[in-house]
Amino acid sequence: MWSKDDHKLLEALAPDALLFVGDLGNGEIRHVKAIKEITIPTAVVLGNHDRGTDNSGYQLKTQMQLLGDKDCSWSRRIWSSLPVVIVGGRPCSAGGGYFLSNQIRAVFGPVSLEESIERICSSSINTPHDYPLIVLAHSGPTGLGSDACSPCGRDWKLPEIDWGDKDLAVAIDKIQKIRSVDLVVFGHMHHELKKGKGIRKTFLMDKKRSTAYLNAASVPRKGTDEHMNLISHFSWVEFIDKKLCHASHRWYREDASVAYQENLFNLN
Ligand SMILES: [Fe+2]
Repeated sequence: MWSKDDHKLLEALAPDALLFVGDLGNGEIRHVKAIKEITIPTAVVLGNHDRGTDNSGYQLKTQMQLLGDKDCSWSRRIWSSLPVVIVGGRPCSAGGGYFLSNQIRAVFGPVSLEESIERICSSSINTPHDYPLIVLAHSGPTGLGSDACSPCGRDWKLPEIDWGDKDLAVAIDKIQKIRSVDLVVFGHMHHELKKGKGIRKTFLMDKKRSTAYLNAASVPRKGTDEHMNLISHFSWVEFIDKKLCHASHRWYREDASVAYQENLFNLN
């Protein structure tokens, strides 16, 4: 969830770029209107909860139009001021392999699994190889584990299975044959597992391919610290040149001080 109140904090944190993994709300326009006003480089892939309640796709299309070039669905974002490439996955995914909602069909047509793979891959073509490439998606790819606590594991019913997206996994594999994929960032599967089963594994590093996988879905992303100060969650990553050197989950107070930090990765 993102609101105008977040802008002041964002101004103080001053990241080089801000990525949204979707599930902003339930199709309410106010969230995308607030995101539209962000002035730093921003990329968004909408989630299954953003698709709207109308099967016509009108609510979804309205949000995408408001986001304009911040919307990274099946496309890429490259900014002249920032050496990074963002490749967007399929919008509004609910995970579970491959499935198109009525709203996605209404807006994009009956996109097949193969077409989705092609759309993601083609967004990476002719991108500067000396820039880090970040894949941004709502649901993560298959292949990250089949336990409930895996980054994309199904935790709400048995059996525990891999609930990632197949098109994204195949696309990442194909892109990796051409160039590096330095980070895959996604949401959808909440960090806190259902039925008190614990906390999800939110970071994996494929050392062989130097690809990091980060689940950013801390839900709710707002809460309070022990002194009842309002805190907001951000997943934070840093690159040195092309190499990921740091990843963490951070909960910031309104004055931009860090209330809690969970370190996920530090380059030795
Ligand atoms: Fe979701």
